Amino acid sequence: MANSPNKGLHVGLIMDGNGRWAQARGLPRTEGHGRGADAVRRAVEAAPELGITTLTLYAFSADNWRRPAGEVSVLMGLLESFLVRERENCRRRGVRLGLIGRRDRLSPALVRAIEAAEHATGEGTRLYLRLAVDYSGRSAILAAAAALRPDEHCDESGFLRRVNHACHSDLETPQVDLIIRTSGEQRLSDFLLFESAYAELMFIETLWPDFDGADLRRAVEAFRRRERRYGGVSSSNGNPAVELAIAG
Ligand code: FPP
Repeated sequence: MANSPNKGLHVGLIMDGNGRWAQARGLPRTEGHGRGADAVRRAVEAAPELGITTLTLYAFSADNWRRPAGEVSVLMGLLESFLVRERENCRRRGVRLGLIGRRDRLSPALVRAIEAAEHATGEGTRLYLRLAVDYSGRSAILAAAAALRPDEHCDESGFLRRVNHACHSDLETPQVDLIIRTSGEQRLSDFLLFESAYAELMFIETLWPDFDGADLRRAVEAFRRRERRYGGVSSSNGNPAVELAIAG
């Protein structure tokens, strides 16, 4: 199945490399996170023109609580100030903000900032920007499964709705098309596990604080050149015998 340039894309970004960016410059790791927040703004600005309608950013995993308390506190502060500062900007640009993940372990001030941002930007239709905070893909799947009644029939799209619901996302959020991880690391780290069944994966060397609109454009262009077959055979393969052999 070829990629349609008109279809709105759901892109997931694993923003990795903040610490290494800072350490390479003799700066504290937290400085890398601050510069990472600037890169978030660039990515959000570039996304709509590239045909991205849902952008999910991995800002803080459920396992990131294992980091030193000072670093956790800086990250939480950056999230709060991003939500407060960007709320009006997002509203004006038609960006709807949402947070996926647990909220019960976040500070009341951060939860208030999330709710205010969700409320202020709720009408946005140009881009759905989801920040994954205290997020675990496995936990979302477990919670969705636990919510099923014993006799309930649930197909894949029904279960996707359940997974989204379990992590506080909009019920109609689609499967993810493309996951980009920066900094050369090649793993999913518990990010969008159910939603990424047929996602294209892209691992790029750029460290997150250096990521910009041009990087996102290159990634989306490379994605559009890939052929997604969803377990089928190539539609451009001119040799029916080969297709039959593969399909058989
Ligand atoms: C991974 O890099 C990055 C994170 C765990 C945090 C991501 C946070 C931001 C980009 C800033 C705040 C976000 C928003 C939405 C305003 P790392 O620290 O693990 O880097 P390393 O692998 O080089 O140590």
